[in-house]
Amino acid sequence: MGLSKWVFLIFAIHLFVAKHISSNPVLSPDELAQIPVNFLDVAKKPEIRDWMIDIRRRIHENPELGFEEFETSKLIRAELDRLGISYNYPVAVTGIVGFIGTGEPPFVAIRADMDALAMEERVEWEHKSKVPGKMHACGHDAHVAMLLGAAKMLQEYRHELQGTIVLVFQPAEEGSGGAKKMLEAGAIKNVDAIFGLHVSPAHHIGVVASRPGPTLSGSGFFEAIISGKGGHAALPQHTIDPILAASNVIVSLQHLVSREADPLDSQVVTIAKFQGGGAFNVIPDSVTIGGTFRAFSKESFAQLKQRIEEVVSAQASVQRCNATINFNADNKIIYPTTVNDKDLHEYFQIVAGNMLGPQNVREIQPVMGAEDFSFFAEVIPGYFYFLGMKNETQGPLESGHSPYFKVNEDVLPYGAALHASLATKYLLQHQPSPKRSIHDEL
Ligand SMILES: *[C@@H]1O[C@H](CO)[C@@H](O)[C@H](O)[C@H]1NC(C)=O
Ligand SMILES: *[C@@H]1O[C@H](CO)[C@@H](O)[C@H](O)[C@H]1NC(C)=O
Ligand SMILES: [Zn+2]
Ligand SMILES: [Zn+2]
Repeated sequence: MGLSKWVFLIFAIHLFVAKHISSNPVLSPDELAQIPVNFLDVAKKPEIRDWMIDIRRRIHENPELGFEEFETSKLIRAELDRLGISYNYPVAVTGIVGFIGTGEPPFVAIRADMDALAMEERVEWEHKSKVPGKMHACGHDAHVAMLLGAAKMLQEYRHELQGTIVLVFQPAEEGSGGAKKMLEAGAIKNVDAIFGLHVSPAHHIGVVASRPGPTLSGSGFFEAIISGKGGHAALPQHTIDPILAASNVIVSLQHLVSREADPLDSQVVTIAKFQGGGAFNVIPDSVTIGGTFRAFSKESFAQLKQRIEEVVSAQASVQRCNATINFNADNKIIYPTTVNDKDLHEYFQIVAGNMLGPQNVREIQPVMGAEDFSFFAEVIPGYFYFLGMKNETQGPLESGHSPYFKVNEDVLPYGAALHASLATKYLLQHQPSPKRSIHDEL
């Protein structure tokens, strides 16, 4: 490999640290700016790039659902063992927390999610999912590979690090809140800041996109059972029709966003599930409906949740039906809004700008999608960004959760280099201030 690159990288960092420790207030921006560029160069070398591609493909072939990522977790631990990186396991069932550096503060975390989706892959390729009904259709296989790629690079010069980089491999991002369980298990105890990314087919490769403040919406799911009294479809007077009641519930729910929400405060209520009856001439006893609701502020989210509850039961009762509502169906939990720290946003723009050019660091509008990264970012400063992977010359890419979803593997070096750069520079810039001597006080 390009040994000179390593030497240069280490040199650049060493230089910076030496200056910092000697309390020289004038730091060369050029030296700092070179770190992300060098990391990208290293990450594109076959030793890192091909290694990540291989890991990503192995994980892709064996997708596992939330809290069942046993083989994925084993694969990650085997690589960490080979790299000589220490870690805690199990954290939240299958999660892993690795450590690179001094073991002392400051601590900065970089995070990847590990879970796949319950769907059939339709992409015909050599490394297609080998598990029926399961697929990495959100790119979490690539997220794991990129975090390992960063770990491999960072471990090479662990002795240069002034602090500790915490590697967070979390389970169950897709609805079950693996991040919350990791948090409760102490995964980011003492951590000063955390970074996370998501591959994005909406942005070009070499482009990153994010924003300060609320970035991804808060998200909740609900399921309601509307009970009436079934009977002959031609004798409705002897029944209490839950199909009609559920239909009116759904129509009434549409009015929450259109009539009760501030049009400038983005919210969504969608009913995605409607199950009831099975015959043309039988009114069923009950209907099950379900859906999701989204909002950015805590207040709007709480208000929406309360009104969904009220509307479902009150509207059902108009047609003499009873309703029960469950906000934890399928172990889904409520995700808070993902709020990006404003200082980290500025920091990110500099680091990513150094690596990719400022024109490739885009600011986006908030997105109604949700991420359980929000649980981390509620507790410590966090920053979540999208990593573009579209390349027109290779054809269009389907969006996440499509059975035709593909990862452009050219993206892997970018993600690994961003993880490594963000963490390394963060430590450099957050050294504890040197102890003052008495003379300094005078
Ligand atoms: C609704 O609940 C009440 C009280 O439990 C019960 O008396 C009634 O029969 C229920 N109605 C239906 C349609 O299930
Ligand atoms: C886009 O794809 C083309 C064709 O495979 C390739 O030559 C080019 O390097 C890719 N661009 C990036 C930025 O990866
Ligand atoms: Zn997803
Ligand atoms: Zn995802």
